[in-house]
Amino acid sequence: MIEEASETDCEELERLIAQEFAYKGLDRQKISMRIQTPGIMVFKKIVGKKIAGFVEIEITEGGIGMINAISVSRKMRNKGYGKELLRHALGRLADNECKTARLLVKKNNSAAKKLYQDHGFWHSAVHTKKIDGEEIEVWEKEITTEHDYLN
Ligand SMILES: CC(C)(COP(=O)(O)OP(=O)(O)OC[C@H]1O[C@@H](n2cnc3c(N)ncnc32)[C@H](O)[C@@H]1OP(=O)(O)O)[C@@H](O)C(=O)NCCC(=O)NCCS
Repeated sequence: MIEEASETDCEELERLIAQEFAYKGLDRQKISMRIQTPGIMVFKKIVGKKIAGFVEIEITEGGIGMINAISVSRKMRNKGYGKELLRHALGRLADNECKTARLLVKKNNSAAKKLYQDHGFWHSAVHTKKIDGEEIEVWEKEITTEHDYLN
């Protein structure tokens, strides 16, 4: 089940984000602010009663939909949840009439790059800045119809 995250999820999301995106320095207050920001949506994958993973999307002007973060908790990987979250994110971007989905990924993140490639993303540019000391790639894909991503 994938649902939109709310205020009550911030503590659990903070733990998940700290595992993989510590450099972002996102504490629960900042996460809560992001959840409430117009144009930003966070979706969670629930397994049992826990959040197994999440994805954050952002609708920008000009029809670009950013996938700002996607993460699955370490114990829950390789079960298809990453795929499910990505497909959900693409569906919501399509609902919001985004024509292009874009994301940033570390050059050496082969697991994430495989996921994106399998979903039609391509490496479109090298990001101008390093993040966390690592080279960053820009990946994007044209969004065709929302029906491609129904789940
Ligand atoms: C990237 C990530 C979200 C994938 O989540 P996941 O739930 O493990 O992914 P899935 O189970 O849906 O697998 C998706 C595909 O990736 C492949 N995959 C998963 N882990 C892999 C790995 N370590 N190396 C290579 N391929 C991998 C799977 O085999 C699957 O391919 P398949 O459909 O051919 O079987 C997860 O590894 C993660 O949270 N990483 C840390 C955070 C991160 O790097 N996020 C991306 C930032 S840009």
